[in-house]
Amino acid sequence: MPKIRFIEPDREVTVEAAPGVTLLELAEEHGVKMGSACGGVCACSSCHCWIREGLASLPEMSEAEEDRLDMAFDVRPSSRLGCQVKVGAAPLTVELTEESITTWHNEHPGQG
Ligand code: FES
Repeated sequence: MPKIRFIEPDREVTVEAAPGVTLLELAEEHGVKMGSACGGVCACSSCHCWIREGLASLPEMSEAEEDRLDMAFDVRPSSRLGCQVKVGAAPLTVELTEESITTWHNEHPGQG
């Protein structure tokens, strides 16, 4: 199973992932601070993250994901939406964006 490394500003979390699981599902399972204002249905941009390593191993984004990313802050070539990215066979390094972490804190008051 590929290893997925999540990077938050003050810590890193590395987990093994079953292929097919989304980055958002994985983040929620392991307490990683990835926001999900719409619940993971590609209707916001709060799960925005940067794929630091392994981007080329992922399928291209759908039009829906591209449209949603247009709403995000600090979009880079490595930007993806965590709820739309499914883990494949390759390891990934995923950096959380500030907007995603801020949303997570709003969704989990008093935690983290
Ligand atoms: S959680 Fe809303 S687009 Fe991913």
